[in-house]
Amino acid sequence: MNTPDNKTTDNSEISSTKPSSTKDKTPMTGAQLIGWINSRRSMGNLDTPAPTRAQIETAIECAATAPDHKKLQPWRFIVTEGEARHEFGQALLTAAKQKAAREGETLSDKTLTKTQNLPLRAPVIITVVTNMKVHKKVPPFEQMLSAGAAVQNLILALKAQGFSTVWRTGLLCNEPAVKQYFGVSADDYVTAFVYTGTSPKQKPLRKPIDIDPLTRFES
Ligand SMILES: Cc1cc2nc3c(=O)[nH]c(=O)nc-3n(C[C@H](O)[C@H](O)[C@H](O)COP(=O)(O)O)c2cc1C
Repeated sequence: MNTPDNKTTDNSEISSTKPSSTKDKTPMTGAQLIGWINSRRSMGNLDTPAPTRAQIETAIECAATAPDHKKLQPWRFIVTEGEARHEFGQALLTAAKQKAAREGETLSDKTLTKTQNLPLRAPVIITVVTNMKVHKKVPPFEQMLSAGAAVQNLILALKAQGFSTVWRTGLLCNEPAVKQYFGVSADDYVTAFVYTGTSPKQKPLRKPIDIDPLTRFES
């Protein structure tokens, strides 16, 4: 488990405030939980172990508790794993070719292969898409923000279960071929590909962020 005292971040599940050998389930203090949130780092090139279906469903249940004005549930989750990642890769390839044709560009074989293999960078990809509703009190931007909050809850719930993630989009994410592959309507968006798995590497904890230039208190 990461606390502010740890020097690295990892696939740190929330289990105990004691040494992991004791498997003690003592709840974290608020300060420890804040340290744990701050210890989240995005990790690329993820491998197995991957979350189980039950673990993924737990994370999606957390995602679905995101702030959601009028309870519209303006998001959907699509879990891509195993062979389906190759089909997703095909959709990205089609999107890349269509985008290049539209923009008068020629893509190298290397770029085409790289594009097709993008989904192989993790054993599980959870795609979060909007499913926005027409509502006179909840404009589309609020529903989009709710999707972003859902993504962050998803990422933290995966971390809580010991997995690393990286939120990716990329320039192809809302190309027609990708939206069609995920069944996303013209007025909706792919908001995240949450690449999920286990990282063989660790990253140092991020340096403290100076919030002064980012914040203004008024009283
Ligand atoms: C909407 C959104 C889209 C993103 N898309 C990508 C992406 O396509 N590729 C990428 O490397 N990082 C992307 N990022 C950034 C990473 O998720 C991550 O935040 C960044 O690498 C910083 O790492 P950290 O989360 O450890 O601070 C995106 C972030 C957001 C919020």
